This record gives sequence, C-alpha cells and structure tokens, in this order.
Amino acid sequence: MRYDIVSIFPESLEGLLSIGVIGQARAAGQIEIHLHDLRDYTDDPHRMVDDRPYGGGAGMLMKVEPFVRAIEAIREQAATRLPAVLMSPHGRLLRHEVAAEWAQGDGLILLCGRYEGVDERLLSFIDGEVSIGDYVLAGGEVAAAVVVEATARLTPGVVGKYDSVASDSFFSGQRLGSPQYTRPPEFRGLTVPEVLLSGDHAKIDAFRQRAAWEKTARNRPDLLGLQVEDGGSDG
Ligand code: 6GU
Repeated sequence: MRYDIVSIFPESLEGLLSIGVIGQARAAGQIEIHLHDLRDYTDDPHRMVDDRPYGGGAGMLMKVEPFVRAIEAIREQAATRLPAVLMSPHGRLLRHEVAAEWAQGDGLILLCGRYEGVDERLLSFIDGEVSIGDYVLAGGEVAAAVVVEATARLTPGVVGKYDSVASDSFFSGQRLGSPQYTRPPEFRGLTVPEVLLSGDHAKIDAFRQRAAWEKTARNRPDLLGLQVEDGGSDG
C-alpha cells in the first residue's frame, strides 16, 4: 500500500504517521507514505497556492494547478494508477466499507485543502472527495491521517493479529465492540463484571454480545435501525 499525501504542511503529519502500527508497517515495508509539499508544484516565485474567489466572497480558495501537477508527478513515480481523493467536508462520508475497499487497492493520493475551499475544477482531475464527519476542520491534514490509519490497518499483515481487526467495531455487522476490562478487578469501588472472571466461555460470549448490543443501542441506535433521539445531550 502506497500513500502520497499532498499538503502545505507536510511535516505536520510525519510524527503521527511514524508511530504505532503505522510506523511499524512503514519500517517493515508493508506500507509506504510519501509526504509532498504542495508549494513544490507551484510555478511562481511566491509559490502561491491560493487566490481570491471569482464572483467575490470572503476568504481564499486553493488553486487548481498545483494539485494537478502534484497528482501528475506522483502518478509518474507510482507503479500503478493510484486514485486521488480530496479531503473535504463536502465529500462522501468515510465509512468502514469505503476504508475496506481502498485497503484492497494499491494506494491513495490524498489531497489536503486549507482556506475556504478548492477550485471546483480540481474535481475533474480526481476520483472523489471524502469527509470524515459532519463538522468542519481547518484543513484536510488530520482527516488524511484518519484515512491512512483506517485503511492501513485493514491491509493484511499490518495489524499482527487479524483477529483484533476482525473484532473491531464496524467490522462485523455494524455493532460497536463490547466493553472490556483489565486489572485491577476493583478500582475506586468499580468492579469488573463477574462473568468475565468466571472462565465460562459460553457465558462470556453471551455477556459480550448483549453488552455490545446495549452499548450500540445507547450510543449508536442508528446502526441498529432503532429510532434516533434528537441530538443535544450525551450520556
Ligand atoms: Cl476531510 N476536511 C475538512 N477540512 N473538514 C472536514 C473534513 C475534511 N471532514 C470533515 N470535516
């Protein structure tokens, strides 16, 4: 799996993408991550990546040419044609199914916007736009890191024990994972459910399924087709 991330702050991603499972997968050669400075693909002395919107309006837009040049340069380096995706709050929502589909491919070119948006003509040169949720971020960098983590861990071999991937929330039947506990057995008056200490695996399985269902009903009733209460409060 090869990731090429294009950003005006490429260094902001280096730390996050060098640790843990992702860092190990890079060191082991299972995934490659290339960070590109969008300004390297400008052709003016000021290395301008943004400009004022036609028709007026507040804020600046990202220009189309640097992104297109970056995509073309990356496509010349990569062995296969990698899909290019713009990180954008206007994109289609990143879900497990999307991450799993991308994880089957050879890699991704992730384009990070900043400012008020990107010249719409960029869409003619890319394969899609993706959003990580219904809120607006200052830029696409954090979202790109989310895409890398969500897809890389679904790439066979990246997470050592595939069981731990397969039992993750959303992997099986749109249920959240069951609550889990480790030592100590009692902390500030809070105990571990007794069944988990029983050694009875049939009972433990039944408990986990029930607890997972209850937690999903409480936190994500939409996943179970239950009526969703109006937002506002949590807890
Ligand atoms: Cl991918 N980018 C930005 N800027 N904001 C977002 C987003 C992406 N996903 C949700 N909000």
